[in-house]
Amino acid sequence: MNYFKKILLFAKPYTKYAWLNIIFNILYAIFNVLSVLAFIPVLGILFGSEEKVTQKPVLTDTKGIYDYVQSSLSYYVTSMMESGGVEKALLFICIISFLLFFLKNLFRYLALFVLAFLRNGVVKDLRDSLYHKVLELPISFFSEKKKGDTIARMTSDVQEVETSFLNSLEAIVREPLTIIFTLISMFAISAKLTLFAFILLPVSGIIISSVSKKLKAKSLLAQQETGNFLSFIEETLGGLKVIKSFTAEDKMESKFEVSTSRFERLMNSVLHRKNLASPMSEFLGSATIILILWFGGRLVLSGEDNMKPQEFLGFIGLFYLILNPIKAISKAIFSVQKGNASAERIMAILETENTITDKPNAIDKDTFEKDIELKNISFKYKDDYVLKDFSLTVPKGKTVALVGQSGSGKSTLANLIPRFYDVNKGKILIDNINIKDIKKESLRDLMGLVTQESILFHDTVRNNITLGVENATDDDVIAAAKIANAHEFIIELPHGYDSNIGDSGGTLSGGQRQRLSIARAVLKNPPIMILDEATSALDTESEQLVQKALEKMMENRTSIVIAHRLSTIQKADIIVVLQKGEIVEQGTHEDLLTNKEFYHKFVNMQSLS
Ligand SMILES: Nc1ncnc2c1ncn2[C@@H]1O[C@H](COP(=O)(O)OP(=O)(O)O)[C@@H](O)[C@H]1O
Ligand SMILES: [Mg+2]
Repeated sequence: MNYFKKILLFAKPYTKYAWLNIIFNILYAIFNVLSVLAFIPVLGILFGSEEKVTQKPVLTDTKGIYDYVQSSLSYYVTSMMESGGVEKALLFICIISFLLFFLKNLFRYLALFVLAFLRNGVVKDLRDSLYHKVLELPISFFSEKKKGDTIARMTSDVQEVETSFLNSLEAIVREPLTIIFTLISMFAISAKLTLFAFILLPVSGIIISSVSKKLKAKSLLAQQETGNFLSFIEETLGGLKVIKSFTAEDKMESKFEVSTSRFERLMNSVLHRKNLASPMSEFLGSATIILILWFGGRLVLSGEDNMKPQEFLGFIGLFYLILNPIKAISKAIFSVQKGNASAERIMAILETENTITDKPNAIDKDTFEKDIELKNISFKYKDDYVLKDFSLTVPKGKTVALVGQSGSGKSTLANLIPRFYDVNKGKILIDNINIKDIKKESLRDLMGLVTQESILFHDTVRNNITLGVENATDDDVIAAAKIANAHEFIIELPHGYDSNIGDSGGTLSGGQRQRLSIARAVLKNPPIMILDEATSALDTESEQLVQKALEKMMENRTSIVIAHRLSTIQKADIIVVLQKGEIVEQGTHEDLLTNKEFYHKFVNMQSLS
């Protein structure tokens, strides 16, 4: 129930609809009860046991509302019988009932009508805030979480919350009102019988709630499993080529089936319990009614409690009326418990604190004047330090190349400067200002990043290039594409710059994709460029094209280049050789060659290959 409340906070902007819903439900509940009560006099007429009321009744006190309504009805029925006979009275009651049923259902619809705005509004807002959070959370959050799991939370968990919580919302408002109005009428008919009936109900309630206990745990497991197999599908789609070339289809299939079978078993158990709700409450309800027939029948026969037979029938009608809401509420409790698990998973994302935030007095920094300085920084992802007491200065306008074995911490360094992660010790300064004192957005605006895998979106070429830039003109886009050596191939695409490039640029070659990423960085035109093995995924030919594009881009810019090709590295102003997160050598190409140490070895290796 805890998370139900938190989800309800999302309904705040829609309180107007909640109030309308309550008003319509009150009207519904009143007409619901009246539609049953209207039958009592007609039954009396048919049984011939109705006392004639010839005096127009007056309402004396509020407690006598039931008697007043009943005797007013009887009065009209009596006067009608006197003028037009029993049949006219019957017709009158039927028309009244017709109207009552019509109004009851009209208000029921109106209540649902306004609730729809609240439901769909809450679902939209939930999805939007999840997406907002996903964009906001630091990258570290997602390296620990599986993508599919996050997708499951944003889709099927939100769906689950909609069906379970928001469906229950309807029951939770409407049914108690019906119960209250029905109870009042039942008390008016016979207090004794009502008390007897309601001693029986809690007994049923306890039995029902015991079944629902385990439901929550099971549905949580089921949702987790959904996340698992969504992750798995994601990976499969991404790695289809590898799966097929290694003929690992069977292996993948059996892995997938393990997950779906587990899901099947869990859902069986969840459904069994859920399905039990209705039959069980129906049975318990009927058993209660049979007991009431026995007890009430004896009251009528003995003339105790002043209950007429038609009133007893009316009472049974009311009791049926009250059973549905009780059933609906017990179903809602099941649902809420089932939805709670999903709500918990949604709130887990929404309540994750962003660890990389702007300080309240963070400043805007629009220009880059002097240098980037890494001062004694240490950084670890988990337990072991990946960078240890690392210091480096990148002066404005220079190109710094980072060289080192894979795993030596080069990409990590590239992640720290745009603050995708925060350093554990030491500080990173840009023009002597700690990057933690600069607004994230303005810090990242100073930088362009091109990584090994070019990240493109299912959109047009143009929109992929203009991702980081507001209102770029066509000329700007073309100029950027030309610098990136991409213009040529773009105009040969079927729709030129308006061609859709498919999921992750699926229709383009690796070199073309990379040149689009470079065009994107060129258009953004940041003073600082960070290139993380931008050419390493390419074949030699497209590498040369990309390489030229990169060189054009790096002109007059400050660049941090991570590369393993000698051709890229040797032109750098400063070459930094990394080993296990520490600098082991630093200098120009010539300096380091004369040193005959790590870099020398590296160069020899390259020449060999
Ligand atoms: N997201 C991460 N979580 C935990 N460890 C990581 C993560 N990314 C990289 N590492 C570890 O940090 C070390 C340095 O990695 P990285 O900077 O990517 O090296 P390089 O780019 O030089 O090949 C490696 O030991 C790697 O296993
Ligand atoms: Mg790397």
